[in-house]
Amino acid sequence: MGSKAEVLQAVQAVQRRSSLRPRLAFVLGSGFGHVLKVVEAEAQIAYGDIPGFPAASVPGHSGTLVVGRLGGLPVMVLNGRAHYYEGHSMDAVTFGVRTLAACGIRDLLLTNAAGGLNRTFRPGDFMMLTDHINLMGANPLRGPVWPGWSRFVDLTQTYDLGLRQLLQRAAKVDRLRLRKGVYLAVSGPSYETPAEIGAFAKLGADAVGMSTVPEAIVARQCGVRVAGLSCITNLAAGRGAGELSHEEVLDTARHNELRAAGLIARFAKLYAKDIA
Ligand code: HPA
Repeated sequence: MGSKAEVLQAVQAVQRRSSLRPRLAFVLGSGFGHVLKVVEAEAQIAYGDIPGFPAASVPGHSGTLVVGRLGGLPVMVLNGRAHYYEGHSMDAVTFGVRTLAACGIRDLLLTNAAGGLNRTFRPGDFMMLTDHINLMGANPLRGPVWPGWSRFVDLTQTYDLGLRQLLQRAAKVDRLRLRKGVYLAVSGPSYETPAEIGAFAKLGADAVGMSTVPEAIVARQCGVRVAGLSCITNLAAGRGAGELSHEEVLDTARHNELRAAGLIARFAKLYAKDIA
């Protein structure tokens, strides 16, 4: 776990740059970067300039924290994330979320690119997470716990019902078909084998990816409400005709960035009206 002092240093570095104190934040994965085109930024801070933040090194994940307004609503955005498969510790992977929570964020939308297992899913679909299965082989809460904090965090309702309703309403207004399902997280970085995908389907997974779950767990420890949104960038291994590649994932993600940004902007609008 990042020490409390480290997190507070990061908070200071962020709050020095903007007087906005948002309640809502987004973590943008592959295919969601376009959201920044609709955010009026007040501060843009490279992860490298925030103490304790790990650098995101994967193409398609640039690594900037943005404080600004989306449709007038103050928001914070983590554009890009550090992944477990890059070799970062779980502490490093979740440091950004701890910082958001310490900045006063109450609600967090986590986004990602994922492979589709559910046979009705198609590349370019969006899936709202209803639950997850953690097969990363690690839990971000392992180890010391800050005094007064719980380590035995309840995950019965990881993905908040109110935020889910808001996402569904946003999709409806935008006439966008929003799938629902269970996200299964693996550590990666290799893609799965068809046998693994067959096994994951039997376990109840609808989509598979390499992120989000550690962030969701830490956000719940911090009392932050969480929603999750996947862009289905490809059919999972063995589900489609060809082989999988990171280029294919980024390509589909890029093609759907406008729709993703539209959905998120609409979500923020409804959030401003109903929750903030
Ligand atoms: N598997 C794991 N992670 C992913 C995939 C996949 O098929 N697509 C995008 N991220």
